[in-house]
Amino acid sequence: MLIFNNKTDIKALLAKHKETNSTIGFVPTMGALHKGHLSLLEESVKNNDYTVISIFVNPTQFNNTEDLEKYPRTLEADVDKIKTVNDNIIVFAPTVKEMYDNEVTSAHFSFDGLENQMEGQHRPGHFDGVGTIVKKLFEIVEPDNAYFGEKDFQQLQIVKKMVEKNSMPVNVVGCPILRETSGLAMSSRNERLSDDDKNKAALIYKTLTEARQLFEKHTVDYVTEYVKSIFKAHPEFDLEYFEIADEATLIPTNIKENKKYRAFIAVFLSNIRLIDNISLN
Ligand code: PAF
Repeated sequence: MLIFNNKTDIKALLAKHKETNSTIGFVPTMGALHKGHLSLLEESVKNNDYTVISIFVNPTQFNNTEDLEKYPRTLEADVDKIKTVNDNIIVFAPTVKEMYDNEVTSAHFSFDGLENQMEGQHRPGHFDGVGTIVKKLFEIVEPDNAYFGEKDFQQLQIVKKMVEKNSMPVNVVGCPILRETSGLAMSSRNERLSDDDKNKAALIYKTLTEARQLFEKHTVDYVTEYVKSIFKAHPEFDLEYFEIADEATLIPTNIKENKKYRAFIAVFLSNIRLIDNISLN
């Protein structure tokens, strides 16, 4: 397996592959890989001649220093997991200096308002950080196809918007959320939950599926009040937001029109922030 830390070297290798018209699939990650990431890799391996995975904990997308410091860094274990998918996957694991030189700052992006909703409101600057690093990575890897999980649905829409606005020749592919048998959405942050909290966190998806059922027959306000009441009754959770929003614009709604809607949630459990979402119609 080839592991690169240096952008010039990986660019040189990929340039050779492109000369033979090979397709490149790309899975950007921050490491601490779980089955959700591996499913993105499988999708890429299936549909491209070469697959690249980046492993880089991007400092500019964290608005909380403690969160950045505590983010799991498990490169060796990650490489072992990647090998279980395919031994020919190319790993790019740069340092902060390699990606940012001496200027660890974000560029400022407009994503036509997508950045102002939900995560954007609660994590100021987060999407500028994501846009900055994904743009840098796309410029290095120049993938034909790039794979993102729907767990970070807002991020997926934002990356699609960035590609569209910058006319980047990348096809951005959204992939379904992988869940534990309890329903808990797979996430690198779950590693920080105790076993007891992992069991408790199953309430998040259970409530989302109930919201989906209620949405068929009830108003948006009714569903929202129901979800709030559930988390009020479970004080070990701190509900940051629950929103029902138009899937395309991410603008929260309280009326139902002939559009695709999704429910989005962010909750804290034992100080760990967990997000999830579900398609409603
Ligand atoms: O989803 C993630 O892991 C990160 O936000 C990404 C896309 C790798 C950018 O750092």
